[in-house]
Amino acid sequence: MYAGTRQPFAHTDRRVTPLILDVTDTAQIQAAVEQVESLDVLVNNAGIAHYDDLSDRSVLEQHLAVNLFGTYGVTQAFLPLLTRSQGAIVNNVSMMAMAPFPVTPAYAMSKAAAFNLTQSLRALLAARRVRVHAVLTGPTDTDMTRGFDIPKSAPESVARAIFDGVDNGEEDIFPDPASETLADSWRSSVAKALEHEYATFVQAQPAA
Ligand SMILES: NC(=O)c1ccc[n+]([C@@H]2O[C@H](COP(=O)([O-])OP(=O)(O)OC[C@H]3O[C@@H](n4cnc5c(N)ncnc54)[C@H](OP(=O)(O)O)[C@@H]3O)[C@@H](O)[C@H]2O)c1
Repeated sequence: MYAGTRQPFAHTDRRVTPLILDVTDTAQIQAAVEQVESLDVLVNNAGIAHYDDLSDRSVLEQHLAVNLFGTYGVTQAFLPLLTRSQGAIVNNVSMMAMAPFPVTPAYAMSKAAAFNLTQSLRALLAARRVRVHAVLTGPTDTDMTRGFDIPKSAPESVARAIFDGVDNGEEDIFPDPASETLADSWRSSVAKALEHEYATFVQAQPAA
C-alpha cells in the first residue's frame, strides 16, 4: 500500500510506503508514479472544504484545483499502471455532489464536477477493464467536519464500507447511514439510466 501525503508521513505498518504527493503538483504526481511498480486500486481521497458564499472566485478555483483537477491529474498519471492491472479507481466524492450544502457551495460544485468526471471515466475506461467507483460519502468524523454539530460516521466504518462496495462491484458507493438513504432512489433514477444509456456510445467503440 502506498499513502500519498503532502507532509512526510510514517505508518507503523511497514507494508505502507509513504509518498510525498500534493495532488496539485504535476512534478510530484510524476515522481510518485515513478516510485510505484504496480497498482491495483487508486483511491483519490485528497480534498479541501472551506466555508464560502461564492463571492470570491479564488475560493472556487482552490476547490477545483484539488477536488477536481487533483483527482483528474492523479488518475491520468496512474492510468497506464491501472490499465496494465485492469484495476480500479475509487473517487471519494460526497453526497454534496448531488445537492449543494449552501454553506460550502464551492466545495459542492467541485464535488459535483468530480462526480461527473467519475461517470465519464467509468464509461471511457470500461473497454480497458478499469472499474471506476464514485463514493457519495455522507458526514464523517474527520477534521473536515469538526465545525459541524451533526451525526457523523466513524472514518473506519466508512473506509470498510468503501472497500466492501468495491468488492461488490457497486459503481456508486454509499458508505454510511446518511448516504445510504439515497442509494436506492439514485440507482433506479432517470439520471442513472441516462448515464448507462450514454455510456453505450463509447463502449460500442473500444478501439477508439
Ligand atoms: N468528512 C466528511 O464528512 C466527508 C464527506 C464527504 C466526502 N468527504 C471527502 O473525503 C475525503 C477525505 O476528507 P476528510 O474528511 O478525511 O477530510 P480532512 O480530514 O480534511 O482530510 C483531507 C485530506 O486531504 C489532504 N489534502 C488536501 N489538499 C491536498 C493536496 N493538494 N494534495 C494532497 N493532499 C491534500 C489533506 O492533507 P493535509 O493534511 O496536508 O492538509 C488531508 O489529509 C475528501 O475528498 C472529502 O471531500 C468527506
